[in-house]
Amino acid sequence: MELKPLRQDGVVELLQITDTHLFADKDADFLGIAPWHSGQAVVNAILENEQLAGTQPHDLILATGDLSQDHSRDSYRHFSELMSELAPPVFWLPGNHDDADLMQAELDNAGISNAKHLLCGQWQILLLDTQLAGETHGELSAAQLSLLEQAITAYPRHHLLLAVHHQAIPVGCAWLDQHNLRNASAMQALLVKHQASRVVLCGHVHQGFDQREQDIRYLASPATCIQFKPLSDEFVLDSMAPGWRALSLHPDGRLSTQVWRLPPHAFEPDFSATGY
Ligand SMILES: [Fe+2]
Repeated sequence: MELKPLRQDGVVELLQITDTHLFADKDADFLGIAPWHSGQAVVNAILENEQLAGTQPHDLILATGDLSQDHSRDSYRHFSELMSELAPPVFWLPGNHDDADLMQAELDNAGISNAKHLLCGQWQILLLDTQLAGETHGELSAAQLSLLEQAITAYPRHHLLLAVHHQAIPVGCAWLDQHNLRNASAMQALLVKHQASRVVLCGHVHQGFDQREQDIRYLASPATCIQFKPLSDEFVLDSMAPGWRALSLHPDGRLSTQVWRLPPHAFEPDFSATGY
């Protein structure tokens, strides 16, 4: 799918919203936070930012999985309603907590695109499915890897933003890194061949992350609900507020990005939780 460049400077402005973990019941609790309420607060904060900027500051939104916590139709409907408050088109991929078939059916019903390859100016954005049914960790199937190979073969000069749910390199939390993208090396073997910029953007880890390896930039974003404490070997919830990430893709391949969060203590989880 080709998205028309919207800006004279050729920059593509996007938002990542991830791990909303919504329930059918808007007031349902997830380790001390009601995800619909924190998700709505994130949407409100984005709208406030847009109002302050006085322009339409974003061209598209990437939703990188774990949109539902209870696999219900209504949870996906709530997600669509939240996104409908934001103007730009939304593109999505499933996480380990999602029911991929139901998710697609409900997001289709809501008119949210199922496109997974986007051409925007000098960039291409590819959304790949790392879900492995019944597992918490992720894997790229041969078919998904082949989509990556096709994209970089067809558009060798386009800078690449690859969106996945699971982290491809360790984030430094042992308990989370066992639930990683298991065959990340197969993906990396393709990425290193690509001569233009390469960025891998994930959800799943519920924390901000920004690291470069083999000249590939790896980014992750806070969830819109509970946060996991960085660099913790055991499961520990973080006191950082729910958030999202803004990314600017420049035509020369540079990427600038910033994590945004709700005000401190806006949503505090139950710190006595020992897992989920
Ligand atoms: Fe998650």
